[in-house]
Amino acid sequence: MAMMIMSAAATLAASLLGYLCWNLVYAFWVSPLAAYYKLRRNGFGGPTPSFPLGNIKEMRTIAKLTVSSSSSGGGCGGGGGISHDIHSNVFPYFSQWQNSHGKVFVYWLGTEPFMYIADPEFLKEMSAGVMGKSWGKPRAMSSLMVESTTRMLDEWATLISSGVPEIEVESHITATAGEIIAKTSFGVGYNESGRMVVEKLRAMQLTLFNSNRYVGVPYSKIMCPRKTLDAKKLGKEIDSLLLSIISTRKNSLNTTTNNNKDLLGLLLQENHADGRLGKTLTTRELVDECKTFFFGGHETTALAISWTLMLLAKHPEWQDELRKEIKEVSGDKTRVDFAMLSSLKKMGWVMNEVLRLYSPAPNVQRQAKEDIKVNGRTIPKGTNMWIDVVAMHHDRTLWGDDVYEFKPERFKADPLYGGCKHKMGFMPFGFGGRMCVGRNLTMMEYKIVLSLILTRFSFSLSPSYDHSPAIVLSLRPSHGVPLVLRPLA
Ligand code: HEM
Repeated sequence: MAMMIMSAAATLAASLLGYLCWNLVYAFWVSPLAAYYKLRRNGFGGPTPSFPLGNIKEMRTIAKLTVSSSSSGGGCGGGGGISHDIHSNVFPYFSQWQNSHGKVFVYWLGTEPFMYIADPEFLKEMSAGVMGKSWGKPRAMSSLMVESTTRMLDEWATLISSGVPEIEVESHITATAGEIIAKTSFGVGYNESGRMVVEKLRAMQLTLFNSNRYVGVPYSKIMCPRKTLDAKKLGKEIDSLLLSIISTRKNSLNTTTNNNKDLLGLLLQENHADGRLGKTLTTRELVDECKTFFFGGHETTALAISWTLMLLAKHPEWQDELRKEIKEVSGDKTRVDFAMLSSLKKMGWVMNEVLRLYSPAPNVQRQAKEDIKVNGRTIPKGTNMWIDVVAMHHDRTLWGDDVYEFKPERFKADPLYGGCKHKMGFMPFGFGGRMCVGRNLTMMEYKIVLSLILTRFSFSLSPSYDHSPAIVLSLRPSHGVPLVLRPLA
């Protein structure tokens, strides 16, 4: 009898083990190989993956080789020489694979296929071309922006007068942009809880980036338990901070007239409109909405301004042009106000040229909800698409021989596309129905902050500036942007 029970238990254990093994083999090899051959049959080639890591190992090797060759002088220009030809440095594997596989190919992160796209015509054929939406109560928000920026500039002035003319401006601008987005998204002011939300959200961003190393590899969360737990803990802390902000605001809605013109105020008012709070969006959805805005809006704008300061520091003639324009537009007034922003045309060209050369959002992603037919080939349902914005913005065939030059005037005759040969070759804010909802707000923040800086200071690049653009979710200057600032009389 005992023998029979033991043998039944052994059979059960063996079948369980067999089932587990089959699941692993299926997830790690069978399923990705089937998808691989399906994509190949549809005419989509690319670097050969080896499962379960896909092309991750090769990507790391190429990235490592690039880092060591740029630190030995082959990069995009440390110290004095600054080259804007950055694609092969920030996305070395894509740059290398483009040479052998063209502008559309498939690569693998673990067992997940990604369709790489750097061909605007393919993108046009593939996308539905729906219009985007936009958000923002600009006039009410501009005064919040002036207030935060002025506080930052006063701090710069104090530093300079105490004998510190060199300031690493990127960190200051990122902190100020965090403050602005916290105010405009969920009405959190420059106080302790406001700073705490901003700091925690930023920490979350970094944790997410760092835990992304094995994205696409099955069970990768189990492989990095520490990072997964850290991200979970931070997520809970952020949620409870935002929940307490939301419930305070909900209570004040019941007792007072709500004058808050931030995103949360608008959402709460919509929810409250028919007297049944929470009908339109649940509290959970409100928290998610606030987080999406913070992640989408804070660093991107700060980076656009920081890269602009780097480029203007190298091009003092453009600093002068913009100061002249600000003077013309503002006339007798001491500072630019909301109504004047649309007249700052040259500043708009500069912004676009900066977004072209150093697009803070270096890529855009999509997933095929259905099979998509493109020129007789089928992109299977579920395929991830990875659109290389940096590659298209630095493509000589689209922009001409001066592609790597800082030339804001290319947007003079063609303010939307800068003379790009294809309408989808310039897309700093994405495309179609999911295009960035914050682009109007960004334009406003950019012009306000830049006008305030340019009217108070002139600046040049510090000799310690090290030109090393790198991807940490966004396209950032690895070592910040140290400037030498001089107050203007
Ligand atoms: C220079 C500044 C900015 C850049 C370069 C930028 C870029 C982008 C890009 C490329 C996307 C993806 C679009 C797509 O998938 O087609 C996006 C989405 C988004 N952006 Fe921005 N953005 C900026 C500023 C902002 C600001 C200031 C906010 C908020 C106040 C914001 C909020 C969002 C949100 C919420 C989404 C997600 C939209 C959706 O998924 O429907 N962005 N942005």
